[in-house]
Amino acid sequence: MALDPQHLADLHKSGLTDATIEQAGFVSLRPCDIERETGVGALPVLSVYRIPFDNGYSRFKLFYSEDAPVGVKRPKYIQKSGQANRLYIPATLAESELQSFSTLYFTEGEKKALKATQEGLPCIGITGLWNWKRKGTDDLIPDFGKINLAGREIVIVPDSDWLDLGKDENPKNLKSAVYRFATALMLRGAVVKIAYLPADKTGKVGLDDYLMQHSVADFSELKHEKVFPRSCFRNEVGSLYFYGVKDGMFETPVKIAAAVEVLAFTRDNRNEAWGKMLRFRDKDNVDHFWAMPMELLSGDGSELRSKLYEKGLPYISVGRKHRPLLLNYLQTAQPDKGRRARCVDRTGWHDESLFVLPVGSIGTNGDEPIVYQGKTDPVISQKGSVQDWIENVGIYCVGNSRLLFSASMAFVAPLLYSVSTENFGANLFGSSSTGKTTGLKVACSVWGGREYMLRWRATGNGLEGIATAHNDLFMGLDELAQVSSHEAGEIAYMLANGAGKTRANRDGEARASKKWRTCFLSTGEITLSEHVASSGKKIKAGQEVRLADIPADTGKHGLFEDLHGFDNGAKLSQHLNAAVGDYYGAVGIAYLMQVVEDAQELPDAIRKERAAFVAAVCPKGADGQVSRVAGFFGLVAAAGEYATINRLTGWQEGDARTATAVCFKAWLDNRGGAGAKEVDRILEDVRLFIENHGDSRFALKDGDDTRTIINRAGYRDNEHYYILPETFKREILKGHNVALAKKVLIERGILQPGNDTNRHTKKIRIDNQTMNVFVINADNLNGVGEP
Ligand SMILES: Nc1ncnc2c1ncn2[C@@H]1O[C@H](COP(=O)(O)OP(=O)(O)OP(=O)(O)O)[C@@H](O)[C@H]1O
Ligand SMILES: [Mg+2]
Repeated sequence: MALDPQHLADLHKSGLTDATIEQAGFVSLRPCDIERETGVGALPVLSVYRIPFDNGYSRFKLFYSEDAPVGVKRPKYIQKSGQANRLYIPATLAESELQSFSTLYFTEGEKKALKATQEGLPCIGITGLWNWKRKGTDDLIPDFGKINLAGREIVIVPDSDWLDLGKDENPKNLKSAVYRFATALMLRGAVVKIAYLPADKTGKVGLDDYLMQHSVADFSELKHEKVFPRSCFRNEVGSLYFYGVKDGMFETPVKIAAAVEVLAFTRDNRNEAWGKMLRFRDKDNVDHFWAMPMELLSGDGSELRSKLYEKGLPYISVGRKHRPLLLNYLQTAQPDKGRRARCVDRTGWHDESLFVLPVGSIGTNGDEPIVYQGKTDPVISQKGSVQDWIENVGIYCVGNSRLLFSASMAFVAPLLYSVSTENFGANLFGSSSTGKTTGLKVACSVWGGREYMLRWRATGNGLEGIATAHNDLFMGLDELAQVSSHEAGEIAYMLANGAGKTRANRDGEARASKKWRTCFLSTGEITLSEHVASSGKKIKAGQEVRLADIPADTGKHGLFEDLHGFDNGAKLSQHLNAAVGDYYGAVGIAYLMQVVEDAQELPDAIRKERAAFVAAVCPKGADGQVSRVAGFFGLVAAAGEYATINRLTGWQEGDARTATAVCFKAWLDNRGGAGAKEVDRILEDVRLFIENHGDSRFALKDGDDTRTIINRAGYRDNEHYYILPETFKREILKGHNVALAKKVLIERGILQPGNDTNRHTKKIRIDNQTMNVFVINADNLNGVGEP
């Protein structure tokens, strides 16, 4: 017999004779075959024997070389992962038994079934008290089709401990497993009994143990409880049914909805906000997981129904009588094994070793799964591989400072937690069609498809929800100008602050405000600071430095410096726009996995890299605000470099760092003393406008001007041009930072400073009308232009 002595002893312990063992075909595996045959990887397995089922299917009993550490449970029996449950029909059981009408026994485990069969009780093994059902349903697994159940007496023989409490004093939920099994058998026409094995001094007794000590006659004397039909809910393939009972018989079932499985009880860290984790399928066969708050069961259920519909549940019975049944089911259904999960309402770090995403979590959690149960889902999704992204998107960033910066920015948010730093955002600003949105899309493609990018306009109402849903994740916000300056201020303020408003709940208690960590990148034709400032709201210095405005225009090809062989910026932009629609998300997930794995050493490494960056770029004697922004940029550089050395970008080491330094310089130039180039361009644009339109679009201020002036830009006299504010800002200074431009023009004596230090307009009267205008001194306009 090809059996290891230890294995043989184990089989003898169940009272199996050598003949039975031989006939059942147990085999000890050769050590070199263990991993390949069983799929066990990391476990310290010493030896394994195979338990053959039919059709080449097997289960394995594992023997370990060492005891499991306290609190760790190791499986004794396994099947290859991914294989469905099967029935163990002993080879010693006569074929004719399957189709006969004589009593048939079911017990938990292969050896027990063999022993019972050996003693003359025809018995079939289930591999666990839950393993008789098809996943996600209450239907019997297909193997039951080999057995005649109709009109037959079936006795279920669980181990003696099935009604005991678990270690935590909670029911083990095996009762539910046994009765649901009984129900499934009854619905196939069986008459079902449960045999009660008595426990003994040593603890749990299985059918094999019992039959070692007692005779079959003793067994038949034990309590055999007949199970009667009770009304119940059952998920069958595709649908959820209600089975009523009348006169001791099941009635015709009522279909109440598409199948909805209850997977686990959920509750938050304070053990409140209870819910149930549901799973159901939509019409496209896509599985949906939803942690349903129990509070939705309190009303008439209409909110619950609309949520379920919205999430894709294809069908709910509308009959007035049936409707309460769904609520009833969701109220009473128990998850298999009484499973529990914690729910959290934000993505991101749960603790140092677990990162929560709506699509599943990365890392490990000590006792139970953590599930995301938020109001809004960030649309993290994946198409194509890491390599696809690198080849089609990543490599085009090389040599392009704004793209390298944007993509690096997308990697920062998950680092904020361990490096414990504040939120911050950057805004790529500049004139239309320079490629700003393209840059933003490249950043977003690290995490998801087209839906990942948010729009400023759409954030207003749901901001707090959106931000908590992006906790520890990147946020990309397009088109700043589409929200009012007032709103932009509020949004930017809140995002950078990392906290929502504290509100009172119905009882008047202050409800904790929502909090988040995030990094955001925005685009706009104007600077964020300027837009915010123009709302009249003073933005606090602290907030201002957490929002860095970076000119999108590199002075070469709009946003781009290196066209990678494309004819022009538009072509490269078009390529990138197409590529980010085809390849996205894989890099973000791979990055997170790396970050979780490196969680221990990473913060120090990142801090070091950041410090080096600050030292390299920060001008001597720079003020505190500048070094703070340098610190944020340092984090961007560090994130980009970290992603690069982990082969997630296709860039060379140093690329992200250099690009971030270039962007920092651009920020610095734009912020204070402007870069010389930008000043030149402002002066040039003003001169050009006056040259081109000084006559045609300006009416004479005093005296009669009989001409019809189309598209009037303002008025003039011999020394001045009085320019209408809209024309000044939108036409003449188009693409410039208006605040900076005013400063430059005033310094050069071209623009007359106004009384209001912000606006610098002056009031003039024309035809008895007062209007605000910008006053340009014509003489100085043509001067050398030095302050
Ligand atoms: N660097 C560039 N040079 C020339 N044309 C460009 C450049 N980048 C983009 N474009 C053109 O502008 C179009 C829009 O690109 P994108 O949305 O990135 O620009 P944007 O800067 O966000 O503009 P807007 O301010 O209008 O939103 C592209 O399809 C392309 O035709
Ligand atoms: Mg745009």
